[in-house]
Amino acid sequence: MAKTIGSRQRRMNPRKSIFCFFFFSFVLLANFDEGYAQTIAKIGQLKCEYLRNPIGIDVKRPRLSWQIQSDERGLTQVAYQIRVARSEAALSGKEVPVSDTGKVSSSDSIQIGYSGPDLRSGQRVYWQVKVWLSDGEVISSKDPAYWEMGFLQPSDWQANWIEPDQIPDPSKPSPLPMLRRAFNVRGDVLRARAYVTSRGLYDLQLNGKPASDRLFTPGWTSYNKRLQYQVYDVTDLLKTGENAVGVTLGDGWYRGIGFNNYRYGDRLALIMQITITYRDGKEETIVTDKNWRSSTGPIIMSKIYDGETYDARLEKEGWTLSGFDDRQWAGVRLADYPKDDLVATMGSPVRRIQEIRPVKIFKTPAGDTVADMGQNMVGWVRFKVKGQAGTTLLLRHAEVLDKEGNIYTANLRAAKETVRYTLKGGDEETFEPHFTFQGFRYVAISGYPGDLSQDALTGVVIHSDMSPASEFETSDPLINQLQHNIIWGQKGNFLDIPTDCPQRDERMGWTGDAQAFSATAEFNMDVSAFYTKWLKDMAVDQLESGSIPHVIPDILSRPGRPAGGSAAWADAAVIIPWSMYLSYGDKRILEDQYGTMKKWVEYERKRAGDDYIWDGDPHFGDWLAFATNRSDYPGATTSKDLIATAFYAHSTDLLRRTAQILGKREDEKFYGELFEKIKSAFCREFVTQTGRVGESTQTAYTLALNFDLLPNDLRPIAAERLARDVRQFKHITTGFVGTPYICHVLSRYGYWDEAFMLLNNQNYPSWLYPVKQGATTIWERWDGQKPDGTFQDPGMNSFNHYAYGAVGDWMYRNMAGIKLDESVPGYKHILIEPHPGGGFAHVRASHETMYGKVASAWELNGNRFALTVEIPVNTSATLSLPKAKLSEISESGQIVSKRNGILNIRQDGDSAVVEIGSGQYRFTYDLNK
Ligand code: BGC
Repeated sequence: MAKTIGSRQRRMNPRKSIFCFFFFSFVLLANFDEGYAQTIAKIGQLKCEYLRNPIGIDVKRPRLSWQIQSDERGLTQVAYQIRVARSEAALSGKEVPVSDTGKVSSSDSIQIGYSGPDLRSGQRVYWQVKVWLSDGEVISSKDPAYWEMGFLQPSDWQANWIEPDQIPDPSKPSPLPMLRRAFNVRGDVLRARAYVTSRGLYDLQLNGKPASDRLFTPGWTSYNKRLQYQVYDVTDLLKTGENAVGVTLGDGWYRGIGFNNYRYGDRLALIMQITITYRDGKEETIVTDKNWRSSTGPIIMSKIYDGETYDARLEKEGWTLSGFDDRQWAGVRLADYPKDDLVATMGSPVRRIQEIRPVKIFKTPAGDTVADMGQNMVGWVRFKVKGQAGTTLLLRHAEVLDKEGNIYTANLRAAKETVRYTLKGGDEETFEPHFTFQGFRYVAISGYPGDLSQDALTGVVIHSDMSPASEFETSDPLINQLQHNIIWGQKGNFLDIPTDCPQRDERMGWTGDAQAFSATAEFNMDVSAFYTKWLKDMAVDQLESGSIPHVIPDILSRPGRPAGGSAAWADAAVIIPWSMYLSYGDKRILEDQYGTMKKWVEYERKRAGDDYIWDGDPHFGDWLAFATNRSDYPGATTSKDLIATAFYAHSTDLLRRTAQILGKREDEKFYGELFEKIKSAFCREFVTQTGRVGESTQTAYTLALNFDLLPNDLRPIAAERLARDVRQFKHITTGFVGTPYICHVLSRYGYWDEAFMLLNNQNYPSWLYPVKQGATTIWERWDGQKPDGTFQDPGMNSFNHYAYGAVGDWMYRNMAGIKLDESVPGYKHILIEPHPGGGFAHVRASHETMYGKVASAWELNGNRFALTVEIPVNTSATLSLPKAKLSEISESGQIVSKRNGILNIRQDGDSAVVEIGSGQYRFTYDLNK
């Protein structure tokens, strides 16, 4: 095998090269020196548990995935071989590998479980993959990838938990503790790792440098049950001789979170272990113990909601460097917090993702100097300032301006979002806060010495570092702005957990919001690791009854007073694993979450009882649905019993499908039968023989149709009733529950005009109304700010709430037409079903799947329709070309036929159906009238 690594074994045949010349002239140019055009496949994106070269994982059988990149049409993988070795050199050398699968005849290239012997704590292994392709090429990955195990048993922790000597008064904010220790490194270090976590947040520095660019570590999990530790490669941060490590601790999510000010504990604590391996093979371990010193410094207060107070005069210069005199510092105490709940980190680290500059600085009528960042963003302002020691700057953050043009902060409720900085004086000072983040577009700055210029301020945007996975662009700038707002809603609310909003005293993992947005989120960004982590917290926080808490991590339940079990919120327990399975072909998430899913459905079954109608329980209902002050029509209220029964049915159906995939025959049968019973009960209770559903609201029809609860003959009738309602109102009336599905249902039953009417509506209530009002994110309410500039109820009025952004899923799947084939998940087989309409001249979308990029872009010129599609190697697609006659379609300049990647063609009513393999294709034809 070693000989073939990296080598090309085959040249492309000349006929294919002529074809490529036609379409991919850039490829030709790039390969000109080769004599003639050819495509050479490459292997890239080697991932282990969704991550590139992770260190510190505790999944014993991690799953490996790769992508094959090539422009060649119809290319698939026919076999693979994975080699795992102790070192990079050993991969290609003669040394026996840790594991070698041999040649496996399979087209699987994602989610392949490591099958070698168990690995030790801290062990790093390198891996490489070789693949055999359908065109005869045999290629291998070039750069060896690796993964490294974390601690696999609690006894790996030799360190102790420590906390500062001074015990803070929990009723008062206290300056944040700093802990330090000097240690000696005797010489040539081969490698060094820091294993670290805290109760509270930590910021770790080694010899004056940050150990990593991760923020808000150790992340937010259900701290009482599982606490993540991080592993850093600190080899390059160490030096021979005296070294120093310094850690600042912050309250974060640990001490005072949620509108109920929940505290996991009163004291912040740290556990850390640095393992140094010298070149001579000896090991040394530096641990948190009694030898550490503690003090406080410039951070007087730093809280998630409230902001930060920082006095630069109190900085202790050089405290994370060696040679610092800490004799005046206090000591630390050992604390006996558990170590068996420490888990490796899964998920995407929070980082500084991008920086933006204010678009203007202006004075408000109230006299505030305000910088407008031009974008409702989440993170903070970094500023530069020069002035006298003791001068204090005050930064107050707000999402919107009121109708007078003053900053509006009433919607922040108890969150203060205020940064206070006191200068130390002298040279220019640069500051950014530490353990807090703000949701804002405007920042009012007072106390700034001298003139405030735009380049003194930088908006630092932070969120979980998920790779962007989508492009979506149309001929309508308003819809493009809507997509922009959806993306920024995701950026603002995917901060270690999926939050409802990032500004007021909430920022919690509301399950309903998360499930409503999950399909859109999965299209837009790689959220695989992010949700995997959050679902683990859902599993451990599931209440004994099987109920699922309203927020995960659960900080609202109290002993004897569970806060959970709301239909459409708690159903996230089933809906999100299922959509993860579809998006990422992730069967293991179904295995891991199966117990939680089933327990939740069993809870619903118990609550519903023998008549299968889940009635009488409190729920959030169709949250924030259209309401009016009219005496004869209070609004589009859908009964909670109907919603609860519909979701009970839907979760049962998804559980049945899950059981089928996992080969759990009995469960499949049981939940299949249960689904039928709930459906009958639903129809008996809520559906008339003439197809009226419940209160005849848009949400009632949408749920009944989307979850397939109606008998076949009533479906078109109910769909027509829904369409009629839309035409009558000329706008959407759904809340959080109906919104994600309504356009899907309308288009599925042929009511495209009505779906486009909802999408293109610019008046309240609609998606474009906030866009017309200048929104740069998705609002919580359809009318957060009214046309006259006044605001909705300040108690519930976030301007950065992603839930209504769930329409994105419809835009990508239906306008651009990139659809999942549920029977072949993970986009191994793709459905491309574009739909020209809605007045759009073009729609272009792409999505980065586990296999590579899928793209669908169409344009309409008069009656001339053109569609360009791109399908990744090792996948195939079924295209449905609307209003098309097979004999009139040309593909890349020739009448479409079965050749060069086109596997099959057929006419299906008004549409032409074309089966294709990988590659790029361009279809053009005149739409049939
Ligand atoms: C949140 C919502 C959430 C809801 C529960 C609110 O305070 O912001 O988005 O789903 O409570 O109904």
